[in-house]
Amino acid sequence: MENDGRRKFLGVCLAGATVAATAAVAYPVFRYLAPRSGQLSSGKISFTAGELPEGEAKFFEYAGSSAVLVKTKTGEMVALSAVCTHLGCIVQWIKEKQQFLCPCHGGLFATDGTVVGGPPPRPLAKIPITLTEGKITVG
Ligand code: FES
Repeated sequence: MENDGRRKFLGVCLAGATVAATAAVAYPVFRYLAPRSGQLSSGKISFTAGELPEGEAKFFEYAGSSAVLVKTKTGEMVALSAVCTHLGCIVQWIKEKQQFLCPCHGGLFATDGTVVGGPPPRPLAKIPITLTEGKITVG
């Protein structure tokens, strides 16, 4: 009789441990595979104009994806998707060349997103921006 109680207790402990271990493995897999809810809407993001010096780029999340705001050396502001149009890698800003480089296959983009080299078939997608009183609003 005493062994039955011990056996039941161990069974409950083993079942609990199994559930906890399964959840610990399954939850990260689910989070990785599940689409990002609530981030696919294209809201607006604001920056202060002084936040970005000329010739610099600032990467940020926009509409569930990577985007970049560039202030050219002539002071023009441009917001672009940072997703390469070839196979979807995230481009990097090469300040010395004032270009975007895709690290995957060497795609090159100008500050306005146009393709200047490599395999990308289309320019980086432009994101509308508005400038008001020292504030840059993307989207
Ligand atoms: S994914 Fe960017 S060049 Fe291929």
